Formats: sequence, structure tokens, C-alpha cells
Amino acid sequence: MEKATRGIALCLCVLLCLSGCSGSFSEDASRRDRQIKIGVCAYDQFDTFISTIVEAFKNAAKQKELDTGISINVEVVGAGGKQNVQNDQVADFIDREFDILCVNIVDRTDTTMIIDKAKSADVPVIFFNRELVREDLERWDKLYYVGAETIRSGIMQGEIVARLCSGEDGMALYDRNGDGKLQYVMLEGEAGHQDALIRTEYSVSAIIEEGIQVEKLGNEIANWSRAQAQTKMKLWLEKLGDRIELVLANNDDMALGALDALEEYGADPLPIVVGVDGTPEAKQAVEEGTMGGTVVNDAEGQAKAMLELACHLGLGTELPEDIVLADDTYIRLPHTIVMKENK
Ligand code: BGC
Ligand code: CA
Repeated sequence: MEKATRGIALCLCVLLCLSGCSGSFSEDASRRDRQIKIGVCAYDQFDTFISTIVEAFKNAAKQKELDTGISINVEVVGAGGKQNVQNDQVADFIDREFDILCVNIVDRTDTTMIIDKAKSADVPVIFFNRELVREDLERWDKLYYVGAETIRSGIMQGEIVARLCSGEDGMALYDRNGDGKLQYVMLEGEAGHQDALIRTEYSVSAIIEEGIQVEKLGNEIANWSRAQAQTKMKLWLEKLGDRIELVLANNDDMALGALDALEEYGADPLPIVVGVDGTPEAKQAVEEGTMGGTVVNDAEGQAKAMLELACHLGLGTELPEDIVLADDTYIRLPHTIVMKENK
């Protein structure tokens, strides 16, 4: 008897779905077949690395359109570093029925509004570059993160320093006061940014693990900014002068800012200057020998992964085999080292 009731209920459900939902389902499916609207929210449109990712994303979308014939509409907004502005931009994309959002969140700890709004409208969100804590990403099964294997970027900065100092007179070349240690200054990205925290820690620990002793002369936050880094470096040079043997910068723009100050100061020889990102200008500085090296933060790879994931979520396309979605949530791209030897 109980079984029979359940059977009837099941039949009713199936019937209801077939009659009630079939029209809207096929309409929906055909709409999705033809086009997808992706809203991209950058924390700050003037950030060098972020603008590179955004450009690469737009290019990848154009290429995908050509390859598949699906119309991919990408709209990009920047929040000028303000979370309340970004919240409004997200709400606007959702109100305008965008299918997927890619969010480079301003404040990694201020996620409630965006997650709540997206969840109630059933719009998946791919966060990128600025990583939410796991508990926030676990609040809904349509939240994702695309970024880099950040720990490796810090470790590779350390490896660059170790490689430079490994030659016959390597250490002697940079240990100018001959005390057997590298005196360093650290230029940090934004306070609380996972890449700043991790690179600051792992770059130094990797150098030490390579058997090189270090002494910290200073660390300052320069918010990923070339101009701010130049100012901080200038102040250090006034105070410490030639005592600085190594400049570790959490990104290339800050490394280049340090070089601007070093040039202005007339430092000769230059200390080792190391960054992260692999921006064209930094690669050129490596080539010219003013920067000791950089670590490529794969903007193109991250942009492509994000686009493939967006299409997978919005159109049901398969993810390419080389894109690994870990824990159904994370895609992390590897880094590579750029030094003068491997031009
Ligand atoms: C990059 C920085 C960039 C920051 C923005 C980092 O991963 O290395 O250059 O400013 O992300 O969130
Ligand atoms: Ca020294």
C-alpha cells in the first residue's frame, strides 16, 4: 500500500515536470546553446597583472567564439579598490541576467553580499586571483576559485636567489660587506592578500633552506604599486644606502619601483632584485640584468581556465583535460622561473 502511494506520487511528479517544465526547459536550453553572458569584476582595473588577465580573458573568449560559433558576451568592470562599488556591480550584472560572474574580489573577507545575491539568483561565481577562505567557498556548490599555486611562487623566488649565489663567486658578488649573509628588504603587496602573505614567508624560508643566511633590514607594504615601492625604497636607501644586498618584492611592479629608486640613487652595483608575475617590463629588466629574476604568474593560463570553466558551467561544455578542477572548486595554475640564463 505504502509502495503504491509512493509510486503514484512519483508518477505525478514526473507528469508535472514533463507538462509544467518542458516548455521553459527547452527554451532555456536553446538560449544557452546560442550565447552566454559573462560579467567580469576586477578589484582595480589599473592593476598591471589584473589588466593582463582581463585582456587574456577577452581574447580567449573571442577565440572560443570563433572555434564554437557560440556567442560569448564579456563585460568587464573595475571597482577602484572599493568593495561597496563592487557589490553594486555584481548586483547589476545579476539584475541584467548575466549567466556567470568572474569576481576578483576587493576584500577577501567581505564576501557575504556577493555570495548571497548570486546564490539567490542561481548565478555561479568564479572568484579569481584574490582567494576566499575555504569556508566561504563551501557556502554554495556553485562557487569556484581560479588562481595560482602561490606557495611555489615564493619558493621559486628563493630558488632564483640561490641560483644567482651558487656560482663560484656568486655569494661574494652580492654579499658586499662580506659577512656571509644577504642583507635584504621585503616589499609586500596588500595586507591580508594571500599572495602577499605567502610569498613574504616562503621566499625567505626557501633561501634559508638553500643554505644561504639572510638578515632582514626592513619590510614595508607597498600595495603591489610601483610608485609606492619606489617611495619605500628611496627611504630605505637614504637610511641604509649600500647595505641592501637583496630586494624581495611580492610582485614585479614593486620590483620595478625599487629599481626606479635604485637608479635614482645611482646604486652601482645593484643588489639582487626579484619579483613575481613575469610582466613584459620585468622580463625585459631580467634580460638587461637589472632584475635578478622573476616568477611567471600565468595570466593567460588562468584566464583560459576561467573561460573554460565559465563555458562548462553555463553551456555544459567539457573542461579540457589539462584543466584540473580540484575538490569540484579549485583550479590552480603552476608558475615558472625567468632568469637570464633561460632567455
Ligand atoms: C599579483 C599582483 C597583483 C595582485 C592583485 C597578485 O597575484 O602578483 O601583481 O597586483 O595579484 O590581486
Ligand atoms: Ca652581507
